[in-house]
Order: sequence, then C-alpha cells, then structure tokens
Amino acid sequence: MSPDSVHEYRRDDVTTYTASAPGKVILLGEHAVVYGYPAIAVPVTQLQAQATVTDRPPGSGCLLAALDLGRSTPLAQLPTDDALALVARLTLDMLGMGSDPDWRITLHSQIPMASGLGSGAAIATALVRALFAYAGRSVSAQIVADLVFESEKLLHGTPSGIDNTVIAYEQPVWFEKGRPMQIFAPLFPITLAVADTGLASPTRQTVGDVRQGWQTQPAKYESLFGQIGQIVAQARLAMEIGQPQNLGPLFDHNQELLVELGVSGAANDRLVAAARAAGAAGAKLSGGGRGGNIIALVDEASQQSVQAALRNAGARRVLVTTILGA
Ligand code: PMV
Repeated sequence: MSPDSVHEYRRDDVTTYTASAPGKVILLGEHAVVYGYPAIAVPVTQLQAQATVTDRPPGSGCLLAALDLGRSTPLAQLPTDDALALVARLTLDMLGMGSDPDWRITLHSQIPMASGLGSGAAIATALVRALFAYAGRSVSAQIVADLVFESEKLLHGTPSGIDNTVIAYEQPVWFEKGRPMQIFAPLFPITLAVADTGLASPTRQTVGDVRQGWQTQPAKYESLFGQIGQIVAQARLAMEIGQPQNLGPLFDHNQELLVELGVSGAANDRLVAAARAAGAAGAKLSGGGRGGNIIALVDEASQQSVQAALRNAGARRVLVTTILGA
C-alpha cells in the first residue's frame, strides 16, 4: 500500500483510518486489452477517492455510507450484486473480522463516475486499504488489485483488469490480461490534458457492443485489435528509448482505430479535433468511449491554448496531469 494513502487519526478513544486511491487514465490500448492485447495506463493523482473507517457502538453492526451515491446502508442489507458491498465482504472475510463488525465505512470520491477515470475501482481500492489499515494489517498492491477486480466484474461484465491494477499499484503499468503486469517508467515526463465530454459512458455498454462486433465480424475486429496492440508496443518503445515526438502520432492512430471499432462519439471527436487544432501533439479518447474523457498530449507551449480550446469545444472539465519520467 502506498505510504501516502493511509492516515490514522486518534481522538479520545476513537480511532479513524482514512485511505485514498487515485483515478487513472488509459494512455493507449483500451478495448483491445479485453482481448489479450497490451495496454498502458497511468494513475491520475489529482483526483482521489477516500474511504474512512471508524468505530460504532457495540452491537450496531457495519454501516456503509456512500456519500456520492447519497446512501447510508447497513452492510448486511446490501444485495449480493452491490459492487462496494461485495468488496467490503470479501475484505472483511480475508481479515477474519466476521461479516458485520461494528464499523462505519464512509466513502467519498472526487473522480467523476462513468467517465473512464476509474472511479469505481478507486473507491473500492480506498475501501480495501482502509479496512486493512483499521484491522492493523498491511496489504500488498496485488491483493488489493485482486479484491477490487471482483467488483469490476460486477460493474463491467468482462473487465480486462487494467483499472484495478493501475490504481492499486499507483504507477504506470503495461498490462496484458492473464499475464503479470509490468510497472514501467517513461524516460521523459508526459503531460496530458484530460477533458471530460460531460457524457456518462457506462463501460459495460461499449465493451458489450465491441464484443458483438467481434462475434459478427471476427476477422475485422481481430485485425483492429492487433493494430492497436502494435501501437501500444511502439508507444512503450518510444517512452523507454526517449522519443517523445513519436507519441503524438501513435495517440492519433490509436484514436482512428477506436473510431473504426465504433466506440468514439461526436463529443469525443469534437474535443479530439479541438485539442489537435490548438497544438496538442496527439489526442484520443480514453477508457470505454462514447462520452467520458479524452486525453491530449501537451507541452509547456501548447498547454494553455489546448485547455482553452477544449473548454470552448464544450469540455465540462479539463485537468492537466504529468506522468513523471524516470
Ligand atoms: O473503465 P474505463 O471506462 O476506463 O474503460 C476500461 C477500458 C476498457 O478497455 C474499455 C475495458 C477494460 O476492461 O479494459
């Protein structure tokens, strides 16, 4: 667990643990990653989800307060298909704390939901970390990732596992389904403008549509996935041998292939075009698509104009984040 992500507060005889977890963006390779091709994802530390655990009076049981969902419900009353309740139950079971300890768990997130920034995985990660901390136990990033993956399956159907992995490790990751993930450090800093279309985009929907396309036109879809996989490999090479100028065209090419997969949308296309016209080196949707966020590669010179152009083109929110180089 990242040392920065858990805090302990003591007041009188009440102990409170708060844990946090970042958002994420997929740099390249979304959708194809579900079919075993590689993808690269990075954490977005400006956006955080938080979980706080504190005592409740003896015999009162476990309460799960999801502030952003406007609900505060006894854990015992939440259904088995509730993603956060599932993660809480699995974690309590692993900790040997019984199914209904006298704990209050409060969840809160700054990460917009259903926008490709990993909000569900981040809240679940903060929850697992806070429960382990409250139980006085440390936990590896891989165990956190595995527990959170169970909730991703409930939310998304057939997730690749990239979201829970990058968020649990809080490092840039090279991810291939079914293989050990690799943490990897670009040689140079990468600055991204992340712009929200303002349209919620349930990942389950676009992933399902791509699956349908793949089932009806397997050769076409396999070819698109393969091309995306090659772009991801070229991008990793560019990052590892220090060729930042190669990244922009790779972002653009990945976006073209995502359009062909049918997962871009008018709002994504508008923001991508605006970012490029304002000087971004490359731009693409990030995550499930058809709404959600786009990412644009910027530098010192283009940062301001790209942000302004994205806002003028209708972006609901634009943030700039830098992935530090090795
Ligand atoms: O959760 P999102 O919207 O960032 O999308 C996840 C990326 C996909 O490749 C579309 C799905 C997956 O499970 O990898």
